[in-house]
Amino acid sequence: MTTRRAKISGAGFYVPERVVTNQELEALMDTTDEWIQQRSGIKERRYVSPGETPADLGQHACERALQSAGLDPQDVDMILLATLSAQHEFPGTSFFVQRRLGLEDTPCMDLRAQCTGFLYALTTANSLVRAGQYDRVLVVGCEVHSTGIDLTTEGRDVAVLFGDGAGAVVVEANEDDSDPGEIIECRLHAQGEHAKRLWIEFPSSAHQPTRIDQEAVLAKKHFPRMEGRFVFKHAVTRMPEVLQQTLSSASLKMEDVDLFLFHQANLRINEYVAGQLGIPPEKCFSNIERYGNCSAGSIPILLAEASERGLVGPGSLVCMTGFGSGFSWGSAVVRL
Ligand code: COA
Repeated sequence: MTTRRAKISGAGFYVPERVVTNQELEALMDTTDEWIQQRSGIKERRYVSPGETPADLGQHACERALQSAGLDPQDVDMILLATLSAQHEFPGTSFFVQRRLGLEDTPCMDLRAQCTGFLYALTTANSLVRAGQYDRVLVVGCEVHSTGIDLTTEGRDVAVLFGDGAGAVVVEANEDDSDPGEIIECRLHAQGEHAKRLWIEFPSSAHQPTRIDQEAVLAKKHFPRMEGRFVFKHAVTRMPEVLQQTLSSASLKMEDVDLFLFHQANLRINEYVAGQLGIPPEKCFSNIERYGNCSAGSIPILLAEASERGLVGPGSLVCMTGFGSGFSWGSAVVRL
């Protein structure tokens, strides 16, 4: 009897062409290339150029993912797009991407779980496909941070970390018993208790009489705020925890995994996590030094780049783990 599973059948990514180096940020704020590299591992990131939108990045990433799966946009049954930097407050970004792909009535939605957004969307797509609701779901992580960060000394702790980019995968039904491709196990968590430790306060529909006012803007409350050390401590605790939980639920061992892909928030976080779990450096792939933190885009960009470079291919066992605002965290183990 064939069992219906869901697998990742293609991946693609797109980052804007404009490279912004640490030296360029030195000209905008009181920071140094050395500080940024030492604390985060980041050397440069990409920013959109004037006129370039989140939907542009999402569209290119989707087209590349579809191409790698050998599919056309018309083959897609649904688009799930994870983002914390929606093109518009509503309807978000996914509807603009859908239009760009030339699709007329394919369902789409934005999903918000910040830097864990891609893993939340992947988990959702896995369930939809396994259940038989859809055969092919495009899962996208897409962020434009550069238009929403405080590029002055006041905002430097956050601003230096983030970059723009999008990654996408095709989640497709697999009913072929001879094809090992499968999203094997996904685990998600959240802790709203810490929602304000890493957040953007304004605009807020809880604020009356209007969502944003001059006072909020002057106080720069429309920019992200982060308790960096608090976030760091929780990330290095939660990521190993959920990674081990996921592998153990799948009856897999750390040594079975061919490649670990960690959310690219900070190279130091990932080195610490890998060290704690005894994961050798050659089993981790990073691109934070070139792209910074692309939030929901980070993990799919990493997966697509790893597969482009031949680090993974059909049959590889890949474990993806992330942590972010909410707090939210999760892990997924997949056989490609
Ligand atoms: N350049 C230079 N100095 C900076 C700076 C920057 N970009 N940002 C902050 N500083 C300064 C601080 O003002 C502080 O100065 P002070 O000692 O005079 O007060 C000093 O550097 C140390 O700041 P601190 O925040 O304690 O540094 P840190 O060692 O905790 O490193 C982070 C800061 C942000 C790199 C680190 O906390 C981190 O990576 N946190 C997790 C971030 C994360 O993962 N976020 C996204 C989750 S999805």
